[in-house]
Amino acid sequence: MPVPIIIDCDPGHDDALALMLAAADPAVDLLAITTVAGNQTLDKTTLNARRVCTLAGITDVPVAAGCDRPLVQPLAVAADVHGASGLDGPRFPPPTVDVVPEHAVDLIHRILREHPEPVTLVPTAPLTNIALLLTRYPDSASRIREIVLMGGSTERGNRTPAAEFNIHTDPEAAAIVLDSGVPVTMCGLNVTHQALATPEVLARFEALGTELGRTCAELLAYFGSAYHRLWGMPHPPLHDPVAVARVIDPTLVECVDATVSIELHGSHTRGATVVDLHHYLGRPVNARVAVSLDTERFWDRMVGAVEALGSRRA
Ligand code: RIB
Ligand code: CA
Repeated sequence: MPVPIIIDCDPGHDDALALMLAAADPAVDLLAITTVAGNQTLDKTTLNARRVCTLAGITDVPVAAGCDRPLVQPLAVAADVHGASGLDGPRFPPPTVDVVPEHAVDLIHRILREHPEPVTLVPTAPLTNIALLLTRYPDSASRIREIVLMGGSTERGNRTPAAEFNIHTDPEAAAIVLDSGVPVTMCGLNVTHQALATPEVLARFEALGTELGRTCAELLAYFGSAYHRLWGMPHPPLHDPVAVARVIDPTLVECVDATVSIELHGSHTRGATVVDLHHYLGRPVNARVAVSLDTERFWDRMVGAVEALGSRRA
């Protein structure tokens, strides 16, 4: 039986491919797409979600906009990585997929309440919507199977030396989620940097011979130019689909139990995920932390999903 999931995202180049993987892979049932401010402002991340759904033919999944700013600190977008639109690079057709009038948090709560079994939440963005859900609707926690998020790192950050972007953007939200008692799996930079979009990967998307395949190659080419310019990396890591892959087939992403703490007060380290892999502090385990990716099978699933979506539209 496919695992029911909701993706909370901030498209975002890697979010875009995460949406395609979640929409196409038969191992999951994408119940809703919700958006949040992060990579870009909420209006842009929401427009980008609509654009991706339109191009990929994801027309049967409700899209709802959520929070337009972090819980406490001001929003700081990542235009240096994702561009002024949040999805710079390829051209997209005018979106025909619209948003539903409900706020994302209310839509998630309603689905959790109405769905016959607990739902897995897959946040690939700052955790503002998820924290607000758990705060506004405490009853929702029991209806969440698990939260499998892209964010944090067992090592260094990518927004500061210590902090990864999704967590750094809204550390208070991340702390609420980690302290909620809901099962959490953290797919951080340490594992997503194993999902490198090499020229061979881009060629696989191009070889699909579809508009969607070409668009994915163009998205990855733009993303790659940003990673080379900012970090000198030859190939960009495709972060967000790794979280979806963990839900699709847990054997794709090896995890270990650990205690994850969110640094809220460090003058140099605010937003860091302090991951106690060796239980030095003797605190209760509160998360599964991803440590390794089966990259070959990951890319097979990712390219296969885009191929499936492209053939639906052909
Ligand atoms: O640090 C990478 C994460 O931040 C990804 O989710 C990317 O889309 C950005 O949101
Ligand atoms: Ca993202």
